[in-house]
Amino acid sequence: MCGIVGYIGDKMAVPVLINGLKKLEYRGYDSSGVAIFNNSDLDVVKCKGRLSALEEKVIPKSLNGMVGIGHTRWATHGEPNDINSHPHISKSGNIAVVHNGIIENYMKLKEFLQEKGFKFISETDTEVVAHLVEYHYRGDLVKAVKDTIEELEGSYALGVICKFHPDEFVAARKDSPLIVGLGKGENFIASDIPAILEHTRDVYILEDKEIVHLKKDEVKIFNILGAEVKKDVFHVSWDVASAEKSGYEHFMMKEMCEEPKVIRDTINPRIKDGKIVLDDIKITPGDLENIDKIFIVACGTAYHAGVVGKYIIEKFAKIPVETDLASEFRYRNPLITDRNLVIIISQSGETIDTLFALRESKKRGARVLSIVNVVGSSIARESDDVLYTWAGPEIAVASTKAYNTQLTALYLVALDLACKQGSIDEETCTRIIDEMRELPSALEKVLADKADIQKFASEHYNAKSIFFIGRGLDYALSMEGSLKLKEISYIHSEAYAGGELKHGTIALIEKGTLVICPMTQDYLLEKMISNIKEVKARGAVVMAITQEKNKEVEKAADIVIKIPDVDSVLAPVTAITPMQLFAYYMAIEKGCDVDKPRNLAKSVTVE
Ligand code: M6R
Repeated sequence: MCGIVGYIGDKMAVPVLINGLKKLEYRGYDSSGVAIFNNSDLDVVKCKGRLSALEEKVIPKSLNGMVGIGHTRWATHGEPNDINSHPHISKSGNIAVVHNGIIENYMKLKEFLQEKGFKFISETDTEVVAHLVEYHYRGDLVKAVKDTIEELEGSYALGVICKFHPDEFVAARKDSPLIVGLGKGENFIASDIPAILEHTRDVYILEDKEIVHLKKDEVKIFNILGAEVKKDVFHVSWDVASAEKSGYEHFMMKEMCEEPKVIRDTINPRIKDGKIVLDDIKITPGDLENIDKIFIVACGTAYHAGVVGKYIIEKFAKIPVETDLASEFRYRNPLITDRNLVIIISQSGETIDTLFALRESKKRGARVLSIVNVVGSSIARESDDVLYTWAGPEIAVASTKAYNTQLTALYLVALDLACKQGSIDEETCTRIIDEMRELPSALEKVLADKADIQKFASEHYNAKSIFFIGRGLDYALSMEGSLKLKEISYIHSEAYAGGELKHGTIALIEKGTLVICPMTQDYLLEKMISNIKEVKARGAVVMAITQEKNKEVEKAADIVIKIPDVDSVLAPVTAITPMQLFAYYMAIEKGCDVDKPRNLAKSVTVE
């Protein structure tokens, strides 16, 4: 979702901004723009479409300035067009603003500003910010931004430059991520680290309602009361290559191929002398005595990981678990008390629905444990306990390696809680831990055997509708397999519990309908074979995914994708990958933009 980059230093700002924005393309956008100090003028260039369209518009203008702000917009208020693109300028043209997030009280502010004679030319909520900064401006840009954000409701990351301050600019944030990159004789702002990584690895992570004043040799941060804030520098440990394609055609393929490594990275540091040691989770056996229920709350793929989490926490730790979509949770007045543990799952750590669900849970007294990928993200910072998934940067919009690591983290949490509860015997725990350590090499085999999936996709990419069915943990996996296919290949798809199909949806199965069946749960295998027979009797073509040992599946399905023999309870980590690969190859066959699917954003920072 929208991207921001700002620069001040001795380099030409335009290439720094556009290269930075390219690194944020994965977030999703439909228009872009820059505002640059050019000689003594403030020049704004913006347009609908890809960054290449912006480059074509910028080049003839010879913008030579060394200070500027840039933006990629993912439309919320007003269609994607040149006028609604950012930056937006104030009435006099002296102030330019880029914004991520949504200003919820913009209508009220707009009416107020219109009464004061400000004219609006766009349909956006952002334009009020540009005019409001001008309204408050009395020669001090930091103060004008501070007075402005005091009046804003909603979420924002802002970059603001002013014609009368050619050697500085100002930024601020609330509920929308923004970092400050610290260089030598140059400084940056960005909505995410990859945008500035080729220039610096030292960053400040801004907190809500902090305002940053940037000059090329100085960065000062203030809180909303105007007091200066001293911050620790966060040093980014991963390198540029982690955020590049490194020879792969797509980020999605690169990220699937990284799954064995990132699973290893997530597990290994947490197992010491054969036992799970989660240093970051401070929940004691005594704390657990006071917890009578767990909620797992998340969105999209992270929610699907949560559905697996429910099964395994209940199985091992014997604590009831409810899984909720974050966007629903917050508004359904959930029955949360101080006797609940809320597990929040998020790759980005910035998903606004999930962040608000976290805050609602804390407000109601619950303890919050988050499973997050991005270090220092809002969700990580606001949680009581954080377990990081060491998936590294995930750039493709379709989440793959992050999902596998979220599952892995949930196994660690489930076993940790079970040990603290005394609800698992040592032998079982040791066996599961040993098998977990085999998951990376099992995944390497899955990834080496992708030719059958690619061939199957090349024969079926014209399918209009595809069903995913499974039972138990395989039902949870079906949801994720179906989402992956939809989001990148645009093929209609639904996920159903194997036993539920006949209660209505089987009416849609006809000759040639494709049905994908993960079948990794030993105790449910016979039941699933019956469900396959039901759909095949109505003409379906079935692709099953199962462990090598399950020979009987071959007789039931049209094609069987074999995965190594891992314990049923751990199989989701390896069985999801063939479904991710299937979605990928279907999208490639259809000529879709795999890494940047239409209408989607990587980090969903609006409600
Ligand atoms: O960053 P988060 O894990 O909080 O994101 C949640 C969802 O927006 C995300 O998983 C989304 O569903 C992905 N596009 C799935 O591939």
